[in-house]
Formats: sequence, structure tokens, C-alpha cells
Amino acid sequence: MPDTILLIAQLAVGRVEDMASESARAVGIDIGGTGIKGGIVDLDKGELISDRIKVSTPQGAEPDDVLTAVREVLDTLKVAESDYPLGVAFPAIVKNGRTLSAANVSHKWIDFPAEEFFEDGLGRDIHFANDADVAGVAEMRFGAAKDAAGLTILTTLGTGIGSALLYDGQLIPNSELGHLQRAKHGKDAEAYAAYSAMERDELTWEAWAERLQWYYSHVEFLFSPDLFIVGGGVTCGGQATTPIVAAVHRNNAGIIGAAALSLGAAPQRLSAVTTKD
Ligand code: BGC
Repeated sequence: MPDTILLIAQLAVGRVEDMASESARAVGIDIGGTGIKGGIVDLDKGELISDRIKVSTPQGAEPDDVLTAVREVLDTLKVAESDYPLGVAFPAIVKNGRTLSAANVSHKWIDFPAEEFFEDGLGRDIHFANDADVAGVAEMRFGAAKDAAGLTILTTLGTGIGSALLYDGQLIPNSELGHLQRAKHGKDAEAYAAYSAMERDELTWEAWAERLQWYYSHVEFLFSPDLFIVGGGVTCGGQATTPIVAAVHRNNAGIIGAAALSLGAAPQRLSAVTTKD
């Protein structure tokens, strides 16, 4: 009965009360086209309780290289061997654990058993989902979409444009609104209006704002949302009639959302001193 021994030992050093006041924790890893970010998250508060660790996404973003980079983040966080639940967010359509698209990563991820690949490579269970969807979950649970009624559309403006559709507190996964087509130029919206497009085309903020204006007006016309949330550290005003607010968790929404989702896969409260039969 090792758990009883643990409990007695903890009682002896007066730690049980401290542990009882600890909140649920999980690790979130947010894999992006440019960076792989990770942190330990307090899921009661929806806050990072560790440093935010970031490594560059390896050139070409091939599966084996991405796995190595994820391991590096976990090692730096010193959680590789921990039993914290782990959520991993990825910039692609994710269906039943498989990645079905690859806009800003290697094409090897198309129709790839990514969840199984990470679980085998990391030697542990994970919860795996699209990066913008988990950012939406973070904002719904802990941020700008908390208690929002009707349709909220969260977009992330980074290497690509990610989107999360949230309706009355429910996530409708894999919306991929970064790939709306621009009729005029036959290009993906993200190739025209993502943050990477601003950098690539060396746009002024005003010139980028014009492109975003087109994008949000188009999405507004198609979906008539009640609220837009803009993630990725960018706030934009514009002339949409739909209210637009900045994501409360900015660049951390992916980490926090991935961590929050992981509890679905491996419920666990670290406050409890568990006893096994
Ligand atoms: C991908 C999405 C992702 C977004 C943000 C897009 O290119 O298709 O799945 O959410 O980038 O990373």
C-alpha cells in the first residue's frame, strides 16, 4: 500500500493541508508554424504557473523534428516524467487524433496519426487538438468569451490565421477560416492577412489594418457573429459592427487551452492524495 505510506509521510511533515489547497494543474504545449511554446497551467485560475518556454519550430516542421522540439520544451519545464496531464495543440485540422492538413508544416502531417505519434514518442497519454480551437477553449473558460452568448469567433493572427467557432459555450471544431479564399487574387485569406503576411510584405500597421478590415468584414458577412476575439497579441478596431475584443490570454491562450483540454483526457487533481485499490 505505497499510497498509505505516502499519506502517513505527508501527515508527518504536515503537508496534507498544503496539498489540499493546490489546484488542478496540467501542461500545455502549443505547436505553431514558427515557435513551440509550453508551460504549466493552474486550471482553476487559467494562468501559467511556470515560465513560458519557447523553442523555434524546426525548419520544415517534419514530425520527428517537431517531436524532438516538444521533448525539449518538456525537459526544460522539468515535466517530462511528471504525471501532469498533457495537452498538445497543433496548427492543422485534427480529427480523431489524425492531422488532416498542413498549411505551415511539413506535408507529412497530412492524414497522419499525430496523436498516436506523440504518445508513442513521449511515452505518455496526451490530448491533441487544433491550436486555434484550444485558444478558443481558453478564452471560453477563462477569458474574453466567458459567458458569451450566441456565436463567438476567435481568430489567431500568427504564421497562419486560425479560427475557433464557439456557440453558447460549445466549441465547433476545425473551422479553418484562415483558408477562406480571396476571390480577387485566388489566395488563402491567411496568405494575405496573417501576421506573417504583414512581415513578409513589410506592411505598415495601417496597411495591415486594411487587409484585416477586409478579412473581418468577410467573416462577419458569412457568419453574423455576436463577438470577435482576436488572439496573438494584436488588437484591431476596424468598422465591423460585431464587437471585437482582444484575447485576454494573448499568446498564452494556446498553452492554457491545450492544458485545459488535457483534463478531458486524463482527469486528475493534484490536490488529492490518491489511494489505489
Ligand atoms: C491552419 C490552421 C491553424 C492556423 C493557425 C492554419 O494555416 O490551417 O489549422 O489553426 O493556421 O495556426
